[in-house]
Parts: sequence; structure tokens; C-alpha cells
Amino acid sequence: MPPAIIAPSILAGDFANMERDARRAEQGGGDWLHCDVMDGHFVPNITFGPPMIEALHRSTKLPLDVHLMIERPDQYAEQFAKAGAHVQTIHVEALGNKKAGTEGRAVFEKKNLAAISETLTRIRQLGCLAGLAVNPLTPVNAVEPFLESVDLILIMSVWPGFGGQKFMGEVVPKIREARELVKRSGRAIHVAVDGGIDNSSGKPCGDAGADVFVAGSSLYRHSDLGKAIEELRRTISA
Ligand code: DX5
Ligand code: ZN
Repeated sequence: MPPAIIAPSILAGDFANMERDARRAEQGGGDWLHCDVMDGHFVPNITFGPPMIEALHRSTKLPLDVHLMIERPDQYAEQFAKAGAHVQTIHVEALGNKKAGTEGRAVFEKKNLAAISETLTRIRQLGCLAGLAVNPLTPVNAVEPFLESVDLILIMSVWPGFGGQKFMGEVVPKIREARELVKRSGRAIHVAVDGGIDNSSGKPCGDAGADVFVAGSSLYRHSDLGKAIEELRRTISA
């Protein structure tokens, strides 16, 4: 297994002090800075867009792990790349690939897989790593057609939209399945987990094959972020 990548989520930072909180993640030994972009359509919350990514890019040397919880990532990929994104992760349920009437809790339904594939390819052409996220009820095999086009598979362990939710233990088998898919592909694809990660939920995810751990509230609620990151790293590898 590759070494664990800890990605503090700036969503749990203080929006009046983003520069300070990006630096806290860097000085505390975080590996990536996770940035949650929400559009109020794909998820029932709105956060920030390319200008904030650009500002964070000026504030920290940490690679920016941009999680696009937006319906039309194809329309913004170029702006996020220019703003300094290292990873751009789109949702497999985005770009029209969800069932009707599931706003807020998008459930996958194949409708326009070509749009997913084209957007992943475009993200890579723009010089970023391309990630593909699956919501809690989306089966992992939804990412299978895209294995040649992805650098990261993100397993959501909460419904996207808000920080501070309870970890959904039922997604752990999906992490294992994702790692199996990656092994069979022979490619170096990260398996990331996002939502409710703390000193107890991190370990089962790591044991199941996750190598990227996104953690917001469990890290930022500590005044000493370095200690919190170190502790999370230790519990994952214990
Ligand atoms: C949820 C976001 C997460 C969020 C995680 O929609 O994708 O990245 O920041 O926050 P915690 O760790 O508090 O669950
Ligand atoms: Zn996220």
C-alpha cells in the first residue's frame, strides 16, 4: 500500500481566516488540502469557486485536492486548473447521471457516461489529476468504465454537502472493492475516503485499502492541528 495521504478539509476551517487555516494544515504536516466546491444544485449547499482556489493556492504550497460537488464540472475544469488545482474530482452522478427527484441525495443512473469520460480526459489535459467520486448509494462498479481515465476514486462516507456528519460504516466494503478494481487495473490509482473520518473510522478505511483520508471537523476542531494529524496518521497505520 502507498503511504497514507492526509487531506485536511478547509470546509471545516474559518472562512474569515482561510489563509491562516490553509497554513495550519501545511505546518501541521497535512499532505494535500481538500477543497469542497458546492454549487447549490448538485448538493444543497454553496461554498466557493475558482477565486477561492486561486487564493488558497497563493496561501499554501500544499497540493489542492479540489472536490467538485457541482452539476457541470465540464464548464469549470479549465478555471479550476488555472486557479491551481492539483486534483479535480468530479462525481459520477453529475452531468445528468442521476435519477430524477433525488436532489440533495444524488443516486447514480447511467445517462450520459460520455460526458463523464470527456470531462475526466479534459481535466488531465489541463495538467491535473482526475478523480471520480461515488455517493454512498452508488455502486463502485459505476467507476469501472473510467479506470483508464482516473487517478483517484473517492468513496463518499457521508452524503456530500456538509461537514461534521457521522461516518457511514456501510461504505467500508466499497473501499475494498475499489482497491480490488485498482489492483486488477494494474494502474496507480488512489482510493480516497471522505466524510466523518476520525481516529476511529480512519483505520477500517485504511485496512480496506484507502490511501487518501479527507478529514475536516475531526482535525480542525483541535487547536493543535499538527498533533491531530499525527494522531490520525498513527491510528490509521496502527
Ligand atoms: C462533505 C465534504 C467533505 C467534508 C468532510 O460534503 O465532501 O470533504 O469536508 O468533513 P468532515 O470530515 O467533517 O466529515
Ligand atoms: Zn470533500
